[in-house]
Amino acid sequence: MSKIAVAVLNRKGGVGKTTIAVILAEIALVRHNRVLAVDLDPSRNFTDALGFMRNYFRTSLRVKSTLEDSDADAPEEWIVIDCPPNLGDDSAHAIDFADIVVVPVRPDFFSLSNLGIMYAAAKKAGKEKAQLPLVKVGYDTSVMTKIANQLISERDYPVAEDLPLHKHIPYNITSGRVWSTGLIARSRQPYERLYDKVLAAVDKLNAGVTDINEVWTDRKEEDTDDADI
Ligand SMILES: Nc1ncnc2c1ncn2[C@@H]1O[C@H](COP(=O)(O)OP(=O)(O)O)[C@@H](O)[C@H]1O
Ligand SMILES: [Mg+2]
Repeated sequence: MSKIAVAVLNRKGGVGKTTIAVILAEIALVRHNRVLAVDLDPSRNFTDALGFMRNYFRTSLRVKSTLEDSDADAPEEWIVIDCPPNLGDDSAHAIDFADIVVVPVRPDFFSLSNLGIMYAAAKKAGKEKAQLPLVKVGYDTSVMTKIANQLISERDYPVAEDLPLHKHIPYNITSGRVWSTGLIARSRQPYERLYDKVLAAVDKLNAGVTDINEVWTDRKEEDTDDADI
């Protein structure tokens, strides 16, 4: 199996970057991959969250706080990079290094307003727009969601997945419970789909396919009516 490098980035803070990084790392671990987690945010939330679940995964999980080009030769099957909320040197390096950069966006103007700058930086690094798909977090029936959706479609941004807000997620991540034991299967589906799509996108890139948009557009209906356990 070839290596997968995924970064999670948005210049805006509080959009769900670290949460997605943690969950992608967990899914990779649960599926018996080794994971190199790179925490580029000085807040070290990613490192802390993974520290809480060390008991479960032990040596399959390695955490570091700098990204080196030599990490491309690391033995782990998955490299998950959590970025700081800026487009500084570390984020630029992550864009350059990663196969796919997942970009979480909340339905607010501020998490969408800087995307043009990010796509310009990605283009300079030789990355296609489709390698930086948005992930909608907590899009609902509000007017702001409607406006945000309009903006996303006008600008033709790729969208990989819709992730619902889920009250158990913050608890799981800060309590050290493996999230897959704390959420019922249907609630996990959007995250599993995101993981599978990242996997499919990297497969396509490795096979020399340059237009990977279709990986993201293959979207399924949301499951909304489940209660948490
Ligand atoms: N899907 C979700 N459901 C519920 N709360 C979430 C979800 N994703 C993120 N959060 C919460 O939102 C806040 C910001 O998330 P975080 O992942 O730390 O964002 P960032 O890394 O972009 O700053 C945290 O309190 C986190 O627990
Ligand atoms: Mg964070």
